[in-house]
Amino acid sequence: MPESLATRAATSLRLRMQDALDVVSRRRDPLIPPRRLRFVGEGDFAAVGDEYLRHLITLGKLGPDERVLDVGSGIGRIARPLSDYLGPGASYDGFDPDARGIEWSERAYRHRPDFTFAHVDVHNGRYNPTGTVDPATLSFPYEDARFDIVVMVSVLTHVLPDTLENYLREARRVLVPDGRLFATAFLLDGAAREAVAAGTGALPFAAADERYAVVDPDVPEEAVAYDEEWFLDHVAQAGFRKAGIRHGTWTPRESGRAFQDIVVARLS
Ligand SMILES: C[S@@+](CC[C@H](N)C(=O)[O-])C[C@H]1O[C@@H](n2cnc3c(N)ncnc32)[C@H](O)[C@@H]1O
Repeated sequence: MPESLATRAATSLRLRMQDALDVVSRRRDPLIPPRRLRFVGEGDFAAVGDEYLRHLITLGKLGPDERVLDVGSGIGRIARPLSDYLGPGASYDGFDPDARGIEWSERAYRHRPDFTFAHVDVHNGRYNPTGTVDPATLSFPYEDARFDIVVMVSVLTHVLPDTLENYLREARRVLVPDGRLFATAFLLDGAAREAVAAGTGALPFAAADERYAVVDPDVPEEAVAYDEEWFLDHVAQAGFRKAGIRHGTWTPRESGRAFQDIVVARLS
């Protein structure tokens, strides 16, 4: 439900006051954006980023000398822990349709020539409704075989099937022959479907068609879940040979590590 103007003004004022207090009390980490710019989801900005670094290392086998592409880099939540972890020989490139996130990241990382950020004006009903580029036909702005790992955290949960298929193909194109994809998603297997039907899933997805389900049909990119089999078929069709899933806690499961499901796929 849209927030009223008064609620938005009150939230903005509260966040600005907290930002001002952070500056006065020198609590501000220069790689943590001001609260009013944190559009990438709820939760502690630094803690969520640190958690994903652990998943990237343990599940994605990310090494400190690797070249990382962060698709949908937002406002640097994943870049921040990587800026400590990545060392000689490594690099980080991120792109995102949110111009504020990219401008802020470019300023915050200007001391790190190994970190680059690009604005790509792809359309997204939730994040960039005025975008002029169709993400279903976007060519990622990087040459072939440029990266060891492509990261998509909380991005495939905001794109529609044609875009997802294109992004899997593009991930493959920009990866080296033994590269990996580390992506999060909401995947609908039998257990997840049961949880959603019983109302014990975190999000009330309703099927759009046999491939995917959404929470808000008016703004489908608000949150998108995929049929697990369809998703894995397309990972394989894009050229990835092996894919593993670590189911998340968005549906009640004991083995969950993160909130969203994590998929790690390898080209060889
Ligand atoms: C929930 S945020 C996650 C941001 C970041 N990955 C993180 O974990 O902090 C989703 C991000 O995806 C970006 N996004 C939406 N559609 C996209 C697309 N087609 N291609 C790349 N990024 C996209 C949004 O602008 C937003 O920054």
